[in-house]
Amino acid sequence: MTSIAKAPGKIILFGEHFVVYENRAILGAINKYATVTSEKINTDNILISSSLGQSSIKKDEEVSSVEKKFRPFFYIAKQLISKNGFDKGISIKIESEIPIGAGLGSSSACCVAAAASISNLFGNTNEKEILELSIQAEKTIFPNSSGADCTVSVHGGIIEYQKEKGFSKIDTKNEFNFLIIDSEQIHATDKVVERVKKFKNENTNVFTELCSEEERLITKALESMKNNDLKTIGKCMAQNQIFLEQIGVSNDELLSIIEEIEMITFGAKITGAGDGGCVIALTEEGSDLSEYTNTTKYQTYHVSIQKTGMQVFNS
Ligand code: PMV
Repeated sequence: MTSIAKAPGKIILFGEHFVVYENRAILGAINKYATVTSEKINTDNILISSSLGQSSIKKDEEVSSVEKKFRPFFYIAKQLISKNGFDKGISIKIESEIPIGAGLGSSSACCVAAAASISNLFGNTNEKEILELSIQAEKTIFPNSSGADCTVSVHGGIIEYQKEKGFSKIDTKNEFNFLIIDSEQIHATDKVVERVKKFKNENTNVFTELCSEEERLITKALESMKNNDLKTIGKCMAQNQIFLEQIGVSNDELLSIIEEIEMITFGAKITGAGDGGCVIALTEEGSDLSEYTNTTKYQTYHVSIQKTGMQVFNS
């Protein structure tokens, strides 16, 4: 049997960084996917092939011995082989249309798709178990992950997420559409998170006040999302961008992208860790932004929020 699973990437609409300190964040699954195809094989190897290369280990080898980028997938395969008492190996093919290192949840979507595809080889498609396994797998390379990316990739739609409390789905009547502009400045999430921690420790009162303001902003944003009030959502995004600038995760290049795109959309902000990565701008469905997308030096993507999360198929 061949098992195929597909999982969406994500954008963070509100609350990145503040979510690390128990505040809420709002995330949306986007229509860009990672797909993982897996099969049981007759040797005791775990084989991985992806656009980042190929790798193979014996199923009893330690995960820490392999290259970082492949670790989560070996981790998932090893866990499921052991849990199910399987005496042979697995082949795993990873394909993704989500840009890497851009804050669009590429690694989480690959982890979710791998956990779903391999679990399904053993007849299990339990979402809760797949989510837990994918978060653990991601932690082999990013130990401080809040788990928000994997959660939205499994469940799809728009979610409100808080580390200890978990998630709830936000019911909206309309789909939201965004233009993503990739600054192509590769960012390292762990380094930016570390820098914000330093800022928080050195500016305790300012940070606490920003957390409260972000909380109030999220309440307002949720209300306007439920009412499909695109103008107010856009204004909330612009305000969130100001908070992100105050904690030092923006830069001149990101700001100049935001200033330009804000003039022709409802509002724009960084998505994810910042220090590079992508800007998201809220757009009207079907709006023609070709004058901008055809002339900008940046890679752009039109995306919409996807109600469906991870999906599993047999072939
Ligand atoms: O840039 P990304 O997609 O890795 O997003 C990081 C979001 C943070 O809030 C900065 C960290 C986290 O784990 O939530």
